Amino acid sequence: MEPLIKKRSLTFTVEMPSKDVTLHTDRTKVKQILLNLLSNAVKFTHHGGIWVSVSRDEEDLRFDVRDTGIGIRASDLESIWEDFRQVDQSRTREFGGTGLGFSITRKLVDALGGHVFAESVFGKGSTFTVVLPIRSVARPDDPPRVIDEVPPPSAARR
Ligand SMILES: Nc1ncnc2c1ncn2[C@@H]1O[C@H](COP(=O)(O)OP(=O)(O)O)[C@@H](O)[C@H]1O
Ligand SMILES: [Mg+2]
Repeated sequence: MEPLIKKRSLTFTVEMPSKDVTLHTDRTKVKQILLNLLSNAVKFTHHGGIWVSVSRDEEDLRFDVRDTGIGIRASDLESIWEDFRQVDQSRTREFGGTGLGFSITRKLVDALGGHVFAESVFGKGSTFTVVLPIRSVARPDDPPRVIDEVPPPSAARR
């Protein structure tokens, strides 16, 4: 994300725990979650900066992604997690995107057994917090896919 952040002349600060932490999780999902939050932070921030702070307690790792961007009204904070939801849905909307980022983010966080929260002051900035278990366990209702069920190409053609 750093080139995008530099292009906007925003400051970028990352605070990490003093000791290394090993997450037992799905690397691709964690990466996608953070990319979604950071790309929003860059998109909706024109001045100031972006902060990522990572902290741990016994069982969880917490990521706070904070920006000094346009902020979100309290009345919109619930709905932004819905599919295709963007705060300004006008045709002349300044910002691109599909409105799917947060709904995907929330599903990914759910899949890892975590939580995600948003706090914002309209016109001042936003903080998105993701709390992930240090050891994610697959949910019992989410069994691994059985790939044997896919018919071989020859059988499919018949
Ligand atoms: N950091 C942010 N600051 C202000 N508004 C935000 C921020 N992140 C998301 N939003 C609002 O929430 C909406 C939904 O975000 P998202 O699901 O990622 O969709 P998209 O980025 O495609 O518009 C955005 O359209 C925007 O209105
Ligand atoms: Mg987005």
